[in-house]
Amino acid sequence: MKEVLDAGGVPTAAHRAFGAGEEGAALAYLESLSAPYVVKTDGLAAGKGVAVVHSRDEARDAVREYLSGRAFGDAGRTVVIEEGLTGPELSLLVLCDGSEATPLAPAQDFKRAFDGDTGPNTGGMGAYSPVPIAGPEIIDEAMGKCVRPALTALSARGVEYRGILYAGLMLTPDGLKIIEFNVRFGDPECQVVVPRLESDLCRHLAESAGGRLQEEVRFTDDACVTVVLATEGYPVAPRKGDEIEGLDRAKAVEGVTVFHAGTRSDGDRLLTAGGRVLDVTATAASLAGARARAYEAASLISWPGMHYRSDIAATAAEEDRQ
Ligand code: GLY
Repeated sequence: MKEVLDAGGVPTAAHRAFGAGEEGAALAYLESLSAPYVVKTDGLAAGKGVAVVHSRDEARDAVREYLSGRAFGDAGRTVVIEEGLTGPELSLLVLCDGSEATPLAPAQDFKRAFDGDTGPNTGGMGAYSPVPIAGPEIIDEAMGKCVRPALTALSARGVEYRGILYAGLMLTPDGLKIIEFNVRFGDPECQVVVPRLESDLCRHLAESAGGRLQEEVRFTDDACVTVVLATEGYPVAPRKGDEIEGLDRAKAVEGVTVFHAGTRSDGDRLLTAGGRVLDVTATAASLAGARARAYEAASLISWPGMHYRSDIAATAAEEDRQ
């Protein structure tokens, strides 16, 4: 991906990739960076192959674990080491038809396991949309500086990309920068963006696949917040097989939909079957209202060891009120 970003002149963090047998060079490159350090697997690692650490010792350990294959098998045998960027994150899902690209409403994700952005990186512990700090000018900048140049660089390589492109952005003190692109919807960003869509998702996807986006993308003014309920030990060693209680009462809260992420049925019982188990999603007229509904519903669900963050959308809901 970094080659495509470089070819397109897309602003991103300083970075280099190292393969198996290049541990010495990788550790030397770390010495040239300052904290925070980002160490990523080049291959797919179920959303967990990114270590963002503040000490160089931890970064060195991550490099060794990844390159040796101990942490993620072959997915980690090539690592990308990056300077850590700082600033608010923004997720932008973009419909692409091979030549045109149309952004959906922006969302913000919470990647750390615990409140206050502490704990290990996860696939995402919650999200909200809209994002008050991401007005139309920020979205235009993201499309003009990051998304369209990346699509042009792909096109120059013979890749006519159709479908959803996930742009993970950071609003750094030096301007917008790309953290990652994914060729899929975001999870849990999708859960807060799609419920706000007023126009027809199926039509947009069909047009995207067919190579001609035509229908205008329209969103409601509603706000949407999702809170991820996770199992004990997630993301390191999630415990599974516990019985989930209270789902029906949670679903009865006004404006709430509960998406299943890691569950399985056992007769009449519903059991946990993954690290991220349920996405409790609520819509309301404001972020504060959606947040209150999502947390009310989340509080009605339980299983041994369940945990969730209590600060999803807290700052944005506060800013939105002012
Ligand atoms: N929530 C982050 C992702 O879907 O990659």
